[in-house]
Amino acid sequence: MKEIQPYISSFAPFKRFRHLRTDALTRDFHAEVKLSANDFVLPFFIVEGKQIKKEIASLHGVYHLSPDMLMQELEEPVALGINKILLFGVVEESRKDETGSFSASPENPVNIAIKLIKEHYPILVITDICLCAYTSHGHCGILDGEIINNDKSLEPLARMALENARAGAGIVAPSAMMDGQVWAIRQMLDTHGFNRVKILAYSAKFASGLYGPFRGAAKSKPAFGDRKTYQMDYRSASQAMDEMEADLKEGAEFLMVKPAHTYLDIINRAKTKFTEVPVVAYHVSGEYMMIKAAASAGILNEEQVVIEINTAIKRAGADWIISYYANLIARVLAK
Ligand code: PBG
Ligand code: ZN
Repeated sequence: MKEIQPYISSFAPFKRFRHLRTDALTRDFHAEVKLSANDFVLPFFIVEGKQIKKEIASLHGVYHLSPDMLMQELEEPVALGINKILLFGVVEESRKDETGSFSASPENPVNIAIKLIKEHYPILVITDICLCAYTSHGHCGILDGEIINNDKSLEPLARMALENARAGAGIVAPSAMMDGQVWAIRQMLDTHGFNRVKILAYSAKFASGLYGPFRGAAKSKPAFGDRKTYQMDYRSASQAMDEMEADLKEGAEFLMVKPAHTYLDIINRAKTKFTEVPVVAYHVSGEYMMIKAAASAGILNEEQVVIEINTAIKRAGADWIISYYANLIARVLAK
């Protein structure tokens, strides 16, 4: 039998895909998506006081940190190449009121932390703009009886963003799901000279059961009802597209889809449609804790699964991923 025969395509009954996978080097060469530390945004929960570092009961491996302790906690991730963080404030009941006024106080631990970060680290600080961690009722906006009044909520949100901008935030991220919140914040920032502060809109934020661990961490569980009158119904994808388009028109520079792992279709549609802005995906607290719980029960290999899921989120189209796993991922990538 002749060793070499003329090429006739019909002689090949199947394609040799396994050639793409023969060894690690070949597989790497063909990889279309690779994670890097600067794809990630690492969230932190900031409390008032000093020398506080306390593990959060509902969010394993994540801590309540006072601003001074945050400086220590940032050392490792920054050294590993993480250059973006997202801050949430967590305050005692005594700080809360009907309108969440402490959210816009210069004394808000988030504002104290931002100023300190700016003295020590050249990183981008993003702040979450929402009232739920500061209102006595735990809802994201201002109430009229038991109804959330959309338009009354806009100014407090914009004031919170302005105070974060004054402290040194580079990006503010409104997450209250009030209509017009991006526009209100854009106007407030611009009239006070903060045109360069950008807006990352939590545009496609679904009313999800996966925020439970976060609400324990931020002490932001609503005292009655749920968030379904403002966060999106997950049975619809077209509303998510409309919400994102509206936020772009209002002045958003970044769009977010949240949750992430369970909403890869929305991430992909966002990336395909809104090519002019980065798409950010939030791998939320419940998604994080599902992996943690399975790993600690010995059901799966944490590192392997975390890398796989986050690669899938990036492959779907996310430019940045907000993740409580960002530090672990940066560690794995540095190996
Ligand atoms: C504030 C806010 C929430 C999350 C981010 N910003 C909670 C909520 O909407 O109840 C959830 C993040 C997570 O679960 O990790 N509105
Ligand atoms: Zn909220």
